Amino acid sequence: MKFIKPLLLAVLAATSLGAWAKYNGEDRGRPTLPSQVNAKWQAECSGCHMAFPPGLLPAASWKKIMSGLDKHFGTDASLSPADSAEITDFLVKNPSNRWTSSAAPLRITEAQWFKAKHMSGEINPAVWKRESVKSPANCMACHSGADKGVFDEHGIKIPK
Ligand code: HEC
Ligand code: HEC
Repeated sequence: MKFIKPLLLAVLAATSLGAWAKYNGEDRGRPTLPSQVNAKWQAECSGCHMAFPPGLLPAASWKKIMSGLDKHFGTDASLSPADSAEITDFLVKNPSNRWTSSAAPLRITEAQWFKAKHMSGEINPAVWKRESVKSPANCMACHSGADKGVFDEHGIKIPK
């Protein structure tokens, strides 16, 4: 099955839309998650961390990430060629449209906007070392709606 069930989609869309209205009003462009998500991406890319929404990286980043899954941040996340092709297609068709440089970082957390939002004072640096956070890539630790592409301030809670 290529896409998750319509009911689930409706719920997803409803929960993300309100939050995104504000977020979109800023400088961030289109939602990080399209209204129809790919089921293979959801299943295969959420085993070790949440499935990062495609709109958080430019297409060139996704191509690099997907062509190096056998050496993925110190782990082997390889997929069958068919699954890999299907997921790559989903990611590169729904990339960030807000990337201003031609850089293609492998990490969202290396992006300039990410650093500006997270490393420039508002969050106490000690927070990143907490057991409950561990890694800046652990979006869900602070953004309860991250796996649905929701990052607006209402869903943010820094864990103890
Ligand atoms: C076998 C485990 C595993 C699987 C499966 C996996 N990943 Fe990862 N991924 C990791 C690890 C480990 C990291 C590094 C996490 C960290 O630094 O906190 C990572 C990090 C990432 C990052 C960078 C996060 C950041 O901004 O720092 C992206 C993007 C990513 N993965 C995408 C994917 C995609 C796309 C898939 C599905 C095709 C996938 N991952 C499947 C283990 C996995
Ligand atoms: C330690 C907690 C924490 C973690 C982990 C974290 N964030 Fe954040 N994030 C915040 C806080 C706090 C803000 C609000 C900063 C501000 O508005 O100045 C924020 C802001 C944002 C924003 C801007 C929201 C807006 O409406 O302006 C985005 C997008 C975002 N984070 C994405 C991510 C992504 C993607 C990840 C994981 C790769 C992540 N964050 C990990 C705490 C966190």
